[in-house]
Amino acid sequence: MIHYKYTFYLCTFHSFLVERADPSKVTSKTSLSSDPSTIKSNSSFSTLTLPSIKDRSEFPTPRTEGEILSSSNLKAFSFNDLKNATKNFRPDSVLGEGGFGHVYKGWIDEHTLAPSKPGSGMVVAVKKLKPEGFQGHKEWLTEVNYLGQLHHNNLVKLIGYCSDGDNRLLVYEFMPKGSLENHLFRRGADPLSWAIRLKVAIGAARGLSFLHDAENQVIYRDFKASNILLDSEFNAKLSDFGLAKAGPTGDKTHVSTQVMGTHGYAAPEYIATGRLSAKADVYSFGVVLLELLTGRWVLDKSKPGKEQNLVDWAKPHLGDKRRLYRVMDTKLGGQYPKKSAHAVANIALKCICNDAKMRPRISEVLEELEQLQDPKNNMASPQVDIRRTSDSFPKSPMRIQPSPRRSLGEASPLPAYRTAKVH
Ligand SMILES: Nc1ncnc2c1ncn2[C@@H]1O[C@H](COP(=O)(O)OP(=O)(O)OP(=O)(O)O)[C@@H](O)[C@H]1O
Ligand SMILES: [Mg+2]
Repeated sequence: MIHYKYTFYLCTFHSFLVERADPSKVTSKTSLSSDPSTIKSNSSFSTLTLPSIKDRSEFPTPRTEGEILSSSNLKAFSFNDLKNATKNFRPDSVLGEGGFGHVYKGWIDEHTLAPSKPGSGMVVAVKKLKPEGFQGHKEWLTEVNYLGQLHHNNLVKLIGYCSDGDNRLLVYEFMPKGSLENHLFRRGADPLSWAIRLKVAIGAARGLSFLHDAENQVIYRDFKASNILLDSEFNAKLSDFGLAKAGPTGDKTHVSTQVMGTHGYAAPEYIATGRLSAKADVYSFGVVLLELLTGRWVLDKSKPGKEQNLVDWAKPHLGDKRRLYRVMDTKLGGQYPKKSAHAVANIALKCICNDAKMRPRISEVLEELEQLQDPKNNMASPQVDIRRTSDSFPKSPMRIQPSPRRSLGEASPLPAYRTAKVH
């Protein structure tokens, strides 16, 4: 069964949906939000003002595009550099495709960062944005702004960028095991063991905790399986900071902003009101925990009606020890510690609570997950061998299907459904 991937923009609070990849629609977008990012147009060099997370004042200081690019320690690549690094963006270098374009494997010299011969030097992942107008550029710049300043073991490392004519690219450290999404859902992928699932959840929670507990809080806004990348040891790193947003300051509980994110992962109160808090990320984290437990996509139109929405389907089983096995991923073959699985299910249940205030902080979630990793807590459990499972994965990262994208309003036969981006 082919799984198609859709990406959308939900431009306003009122479900005005626009296809992300369609420049005519994207550029005509108007925002009803109180987003502090402002746009000043000028002749050739657009100036976006984005909050600086370095700034320690109560209100983040807007930074211009020139300031963001010049202040970062990132390498500025020319388009030609990246053409050479990726064998001219050859199709056989493609690592994957997202809403903004293709991601290619490339090689650069590890000292000079100059493009090197394929197969020599350091491997990198090069994301090449489709030329698509303002929104793509804005997210590109937001990503440079945040990843240029934030450094943590559980965030993917941004090495450089390219802003050459209309070309916008990003150069990241290469993550050999690709995305969590590919491991969980790609047909033919070896199943992930329980121990690895827990390890991935902990790594991702560490990344989110780092963002939420930063002096100037960052709300990630796009937490989902495809944005969790894995290194050769299955250490998880968050990628894609194009939607990241400065959290509320002072005694404010939320920021009011345009609704953006991905259908299924986005928190209900945020979709309904545009009020964004770190608890929206916690909701998305709960959804990913559910995907790890069940091996099912958050929204899957290939499933019978009541099972299409993972949250609705799984929720009634999560708090009940005797019923939990009904939603557990059959690919685990029953090889998981029951106590631990039950604890994870309970954490997920708390994270997806409709009342944002009742959701735990991600640091609390992290603490609980770390305790489960402690071997003392898995005494009565079947043995799970991480090495055996990880070794059975192919060495090269996996590709995903090319993804047609349509707006939600477009009438078409529904293929098996993956996730739709809410922008
Ligand atoms: N640094 C990286 N190293 C290895 N593979 C990567 C890297 N970054 C991205 N990929 C691969 O490229 C794929 C596409 O990534 P991309 O972030 O463009 O889209 P996505 O997250 O799948 O979707 P969306 O556009 O909705 O965010 C990923 O799923 C992953 O397989
Ligand atoms: Mg991504």
